[in-house]
Amino acid sequence: MTAPGTAESLAAAAKERFGGLDFVITCAGFTWDVFFHRMTDEQWHAIIDVHLNGTYRVTHEAYKAMRAMAQQEREAGKTPTARKVVTVSSMSSFGNLGQANYAAAKAGIVGLTRAIALEGAMFNILANSVAYGPIDTRLTRPREEQHEQVGESQLGMPAAARAKYLSQIPMGRVGTIDEAVGPLLFLASSHANYVSGALLEVNGAAHIS
Ligand SMILES: NC(=O)c1ccc[n+]([C@@H]2O[C@H](COP(=O)([O-])OP(=O)(O)OC[C@H]3O[C@@H](n4cnc5c(N)ncnc54)[C@H](O)[C@@H]3O)[C@@H](O)[C@H]2O)c1
Repeated sequence: MTAPGTAESLAAAAKERFGGLDFVITCAGFTWDVFFHRMTDEQWHAIIDVHLNGTYRVTHEAYKAMRAMAQQEREAGKTPTARKVVTVSSMSSFGNLGQANYAAAKAGIVGLTRAIALEGAMFNILANSVAYGPIDTRLTRPREEQHEQVGESQLGMPAAARAKYLSQIPMGRVGTIDEAVGPLLFLASSHANYVSGALLEVNGAAHIS
């Protein structure tokens, strides 16, 4: 997601293999947590680059292709097909300890997605974001029990911090990967053809407290 040309080749491959591009979901990323006073420029830029710039790169290429297809449909006198941009944000976008870089990137993704929703509306391009609470992946599993690393970042949460975090989730548990995928499929599907500019919170009721 950070390499030049990746987003362009993804959009081109979709058009070549499937004859068009109906939806895009941006999901790639990792965390590199540290308290703000210790955060290095490298940590800041790495997380902004993979999450915010990566989402920009992929949605930008996809959006241009979708808009061109919609324009062709309109010129042929047809209503443009509903096409979807779905981005992945986080509960951390509202701010989280040790995640200034990630919180900023995930909040930026929400703004970007809403702007795409507004500009895309007349082309029937719908854009929504999903803000997850803790989902059971290597980003949230106890750090002490796994050895997952991206670059210098040890993935996972310290067990004590994780227990405290989970105690703030009303449902009292992490979400499963299947439970995380469902909302993405809904937003990409025709069941969401009048849902745009939304931030869907998927967090075991944590937004209520
Ligand atoms: N797990 C959670 O609790 C949680 C909560 C909120 C948001 N999210 C978000 O969900 C998304 C998926 O994370 P996950 O929890 O499934 O973690 P994960 O580590 O299982 O999946 C992330 C994927 O992104 C890929 N990736 C990382 N850097 C990349 C790069 N530079 N180029 C291409 N691919 C790259 C990884 O290879 C991996 O397949 C991320 O955007 C994450 O921020 C996760």
